[in-house]
Amino acid sequence: MSKEPVIRFPEGFRWGVAASAYQIEGGYDEDGRGLSIWDTFCRQPGKVERGETGDVAADHYHRWREDVQIMADLGLQVYRFSIAWPRILPEGTGRVNPPGLDFYDHLVDALLEKGITPLPTLYHWDLPQALQDKGGWGNRDTAHYFAEYARIVGERLSDRVQNWITHNEPFVAAVAGHFTGEHAPGLQDPFLTFRAGHHLLLSHGYAVEALRATAKQTLQIGIALNLSPVHPASESEADQQAARRYDGVLNRLFLDPILCAKYPEDIVELLGPVMPQVEPDDMRHIAVPLDFVGVNYYSRTVIRYDPDFPLIQASEIKPEGREYSQMWEIYPPGIYELLTRVWKDYRPASIFVTENGVCVPDGVDFDGRVRDYRRIRYLRDHLVQVHRAIAEGVPVHGYLVWSLLDNFEWAFGYRMRFGLTYVDFETQKRIIKESGYWFARVIRENGFNPDMAI
Ligand code: FCB
Repeated sequence: MSKEPVIRFPEGFRWGVAASAYQIEGGYDEDGRGLSIWDTFCRQPGKVERGETGDVAADHYHRWREDVQIMADLGLQVYRFSIAWPRILPEGTGRVNPPGLDFYDHLVDALLEKGITPLPTLYHWDLPQALQDKGGWGNRDTAHYFAEYARIVGERLSDRVQNWITHNEPFVAAVAGHFTGEHAPGLQDPFLTFRAGHHLLLSHGYAVEALRATAKQTLQIGIALNLSPVHPASESEADQQAARRYDGVLNRLFLDPILCAKYPEDIVELLGPVMPQVEPDDMRHIAVPLDFVGVNYYSRTVIRYDPDFPLIQASEIKPEGREYSQMWEIYPPGIYELLTRVWKDYRPASIFVTENGVCVPDGVDFDGRVRDYRRIRYLRDHLVQVHRAIAEGVPVHGYLVWSLLDNFEWAFGYRMRFGLTYVDFETQKRIIKESGYWFARVIRENGFNPDMAI
């Protein structure tokens, strides 16, 4: 018996999960899908742990009906998924591939039939390889190709799909893809990094305009940003300034143009010649009015002064004595700090938590259950903080867990499990974890008792 919820979310608060195409779909060469930069990247030796790829992933391309049923069983209200650009336009531009559109069309209908709101993301890092061959995000034309793709998808789905996200985490696409090289396309070029970042932002603006122009109803459009409160490693002036610089590149370099139509001045100065060329009309497009801002939160970032780190002379440390997941520090107050800051500094129309979740080593017990109590505690503790922000007037209207299923976690491959549902990648069998059942109850009660023993 669950105790009465003592934390209740506002009426109409939306609960759901998030996922992305390359991480779950598989079917990488089926029904006319073109290759993406991740297909190419995964085949380069040493880029992904154990040489794993998203060729099969969680086989969602074939098992989507079962996955929609899981969502319905859990009572989910929103499903954030991403559309694979190379399924729609195998060469990135020009020729449309009808079976690609059909796949998402059927998925949308199945979701709506179960009363689940579809929330597609247009770009979750799987650029068509054919466009990479023309310069990728470093090429300004890619922003126009993205608008063309947005229009095609919008024409097909916007009669039924009202809520949209343009990009997932443009910071990661730019920096991990073009600066550290940890993600596709695996480049290491500071000039290209910030040019790619600018074109990603520009393409966001163009896509919003393209979607609105083709829409068959009034749309709610936003973007999902990976934001993190940046804390200095010590009280020292050098660490504090380093943290400020890091915050500028991680958070403000994306929030400021989108919500204030300008790049942050201190960062423009800091980056100097690597800052991209901004054409006169760019900021007007980038700052196109949005209906919501999506916040992806996993952890805080702790920064120290590091004279050897190029450009920003700041690097991340992992403080001792804290609790960690397999990837990051577990720091629940960070989501409260972030949500209140975004609201205070930027006043967006509305805020959605578009990703929050944790990877811990899950295993299947003797009786076939997956007792992921650490994940439940993580979600509970973060939801307490989200609720605290709402209670103080921050307009957070929904919360999505990353992720529905265990999936392909980029350069880590299948080692990192984030799902509310366990996936046996040998058999593709799904097992709803204890966290999935816990989250289902939270949704049913629109709240929970934070003192409940877990
Ligand atoms: C986010 C990504 C998502 C997933 C989670 C763990 O940065 O948007 O695809 O990898 O991290």
